[in-house]
Amino acid sequence: MDILSIKQRFGIIGNSAGLDRAIDIARQVAPTDITVLITGESGVGKEVFPQIIHQLSSRKHGPYIAVNCGAIPEGTIDSELFGHEKGSFTGAHEARKGYFEVVNGGTIFLDEVAELPLSTQVRLLRVLEAGEFMRVGSSKVQKTDVRVVAATNVDIQAAINEGKFRQDLYYRLNTVPVSIPPLRERKEDILLLFRKFAVDFAEKYRMPPLELDDESKHMLLNFRWPGNIRQLRNLTEQISIIEHVRTISGAVMQKYIPETINRELPILYTGAKSGGEFSERELLYKVLFDMRRDINELKKLVGETVVHDNISAHLHSMANSGAESHPFTAPDRNIHTPQPFVVQNPIDEEELFSHSEVVDESLSIQEKEMDLIRRALDKHSGRRRNAAKELGISERTLYRKIKEYGINA
Ligand SMILES: Nc1ncnc2c1ncn2[C@@H]1O[C@H](COP(=O)(O)OP(=O)(O)O)[C@@H](O)[C@H]1O
Ligand SMILES: [Mg+2]
Repeated sequence: MDILSIKQRFGIIGNSAGLDRAIDIARQVAPTDITVLITGESGVGKEVFPQIIHQLSSRKHGPYIAVNCGAIPEGTIDSELFGHEKGSFTGAHEARKGYFEVVNGGTIFLDEVAELPLSTQVRLLRVLEAGEFMRVGSSKVQKTDVRVVAATNVDIQAAINEGKFRQDLYYRLNTVPVSIPPLRERKEDILLLFRKFAVDFAEKYRMPPLELDDESKHMLLNFRWPGNIRQLRNLTEQISIIEHVRTISGAVMQKYIPETINRELPILYTGAKSGGEFSERELLYKVLFDMRRDINELKKLVGETVVHDNISAHLHSMANSGAESHPFTAPDRNIHTPQPFVVQNPIDEEELFSHSEVVDESLSIQEKEMDLIRRALDKHSGRRRNAAKELGISERTLYRKIKEYGINA
């Protein structure tokens, strides 16, 4: 199958040389049983590659499972991957097959493979080298024939240097590396992807698709995109829902590009409180009402999307728990939609105050949260387990938030 047909079949948008090269390597390695390691920042589009490899291999009629190694608690990961015997630990009421046993004859995708605990890395190395594994609590060696495709968004060499990842396993996994470049290094794909997502969301929300003017195009092309294509997709969805005017100007785009967010709101609020001009209070009043409406709309949408995501995640993979991030990275940042208006109702100070409190709080919580997560990760040199502990949240929640906010970790 040629590269173009692969793109069509798997819904891959883009013409950059880096993307084509990655697809070409996947295509060539697919018919072999060689282990493949997919690397690239979060949101670059790694997830489709193991599927290409599986579908273009002779295992395509065999099972395929995607396992998000970072989302499975350390205490149960060996059992999930390799199974356990009845009574092998508290709560193991029944024997259970692990993924490596279930997927015999197929392909297993180990996403976020650098998150595997060292003890699990030993088991994985054995399966890769000898096709052998043992269930937890058993001493019976079993055989399995599984093709492994792994992915990571962290620098594994750094993890090796820190003693968090086994070098022998890295060499074994990295037989054929496929690296997916970040979006900022394939700028020619940005507008193609925007158009594709704009059309998708226009269909989904039954609206005409968004268009860009020259200035907003320029802004998309020059943004850093730390969350890569996932972030571009989320941004396109947010704008699709919130903006009523379909041609997006630079001024409108400004509100959605995180590095240039309008952070003036609390200052505007203070100004009004300290007895500023009446017109300023009117403006504030209107903005707050708009925000409240938008928040309610977003809440509804978020509710719907969560339900939808749960169902499709369930259908698509029994193992890939919570792998796709929420379509809204930070909805509350972008709901500021000032428009020309006339105030009809007299201003009720008390109501105004209560609204502003709600808005202010939700704005700061997410920002603070992102900030705290970044700081915790920095402090613990990227060790999520320790960072989660310090933050007082589960590793799983931390993992989800890192993905959701597109934090580079
Ligand atoms: N080239 C592409 N064309 C169309 N959609 C893409 C492309 N690359 C990524 N996506 C979409 O971007 C989102 C993030 O991709 P994903 O594969 O989950 O990233 P990650 O590298 O973090 O695993 C997904 O919704 C995916 O469908
Ligand atoms: Mg992924």
